[in-house]
Amino acid sequence: MNIVVAQSGGPTCAINASLLGVFRHATKYDEIETIYGSVNGIEGLISNNLVNLSEIICTDDDVELIRQTPSTVLGSCRYKLPDPTKDIKVYEDIVSTMRAHDIHAFFYIGGNDSMDTVMKLDRYFKLNGIDIVAIGIPKTIDNDLPETDHTPGFGSAAKYVATTTQEIIRDSSVYSVPSVTIIEIMGRDTGWLTASSAVLRANGETAPHLIYLPEKPFSTKKFLDDVREVQKTHRAVIVAVSEGIELDMAELGEEFQSGKTDNFGHKYLAGIGKALEKLVTKEIGCKVRSIELNVMQRCSSHLSSKRDISEAERIGGSAVKAALKGISGEMMVFYRVANHPYNVRIDHVSVSLVANHVKYFPTEWITESGNNVTDEAVEYCLPLIQGEQNIRYKNGIPQHYVLQQELPHK
Ligand code: F6P
Repeated sequence: MNIVVAQSGGPTCAINASLLGVFRHATKYDEIETIYGSVNGIEGLISNNLVNLSEIICTDDDVELIRQTPSTVLGSCRYKLPDPTKDIKVYEDIVSTMRAHDIHAFFYIGGNDSMDTVMKLDRYFKLNGIDIVAIGIPKTIDNDLPETDHTPGFGSAAKYVATTTQEIIRDSSVYSVPSVTIIEIMGRDTGWLTASSAVLRANGETAPHLIYLPEKPFSTKKFLDDVREVQKTHRAVIVAVSEGIELDMAELGEEFQSGKTDNFGHKYLAGIGKALEKLVTKEIGCKVRSIELNVMQRCSSHLSSKRDISEAERIGGSAVKAALKGISGEMMVFYRVANHPYNVRIDHVSVSLVANHVKYFPTEWITESGNNVTDEAVEYCLPLIQGEQNIRYKNGIPQHYVLQQELPHK
């Protein structure tokens, strides 16, 4: 039989490692002949746009470079499938592509929305007696998938956030004048990634002095009070703020976000740091700078976590094993067995427990004052950022895997 793998949702540093996990593990089985990649996630299956992965991943060099290349080798999408009991045209197109290529297993590497695709496809296959299995492989820098201890991609993003925050702390403390530096960190609905900036504590840093997550209501008045309070003891105040906190726009007196949404109805965020910068300038009047880590936090693979990358590959391989046992409609998960020494076990759960659900940062790990996180967050994050990849460089620049020919994006 043949299989197909696709990448979906926001990029990470680890999503290509999971692709490699599927590919390299699948090549070990005689019963699997061709391993296809679907270009731009599920869109490639809808429009019959597949590539033979053996023609892309040819040598050990390719493997090494793909492993250290961020983003998605196969492209991505944010495509929402319709209800399989109401609108079947798109499902017929997908099955027709799969039939044409004798595909019997579908692997989808993605986050909450991508698991919605796995759930609906599995449902359609079962409703119609189609012998194809669909398996989800978790991925997201947001770390917001329920049922799994963490998601591939998060550890590398957290390592970048912590490292960059440390560099910003050094840079911000050089002058004798008071300053406030606001670092805006991704995480659409949850504060996991923003909270990861607190791991610097393990190395004796006291900053970020203030950390704000979407899990707690945000008040601009309280924020200004917090900043003034920290200023009593620190000349250079460092604030880590999640892009997902809700700001009262009326209170700020202007629109600071585009208001645009993706296919799943999620708002394109970004801009909160700038809005807070303006607020501090107006109300406190000291030197203020906002820094939006933006896409760098999900594509800076030169700072990726070795553990994250190797776990991503491992969980991709486990998905193949599960599919060969006939498992379908499930997502692979990590269970944390221990922290000291760190150990995880891989299993799978019904994708219905994950699709369209969100795992929030535990509110008991947020301090009572609502402006920082507890040491539990540090303990949780630390194992996930361990290890450095042996990155290959060319002309002093990390080398990326680049396809000789562009993939046909239909
Ligand atoms: O995939 C998660 C994420 O990186 C969020 O942290 C962020 O809000 C969102 O994706 C950005 O989406 P896009 O890449 O479509 O702009």
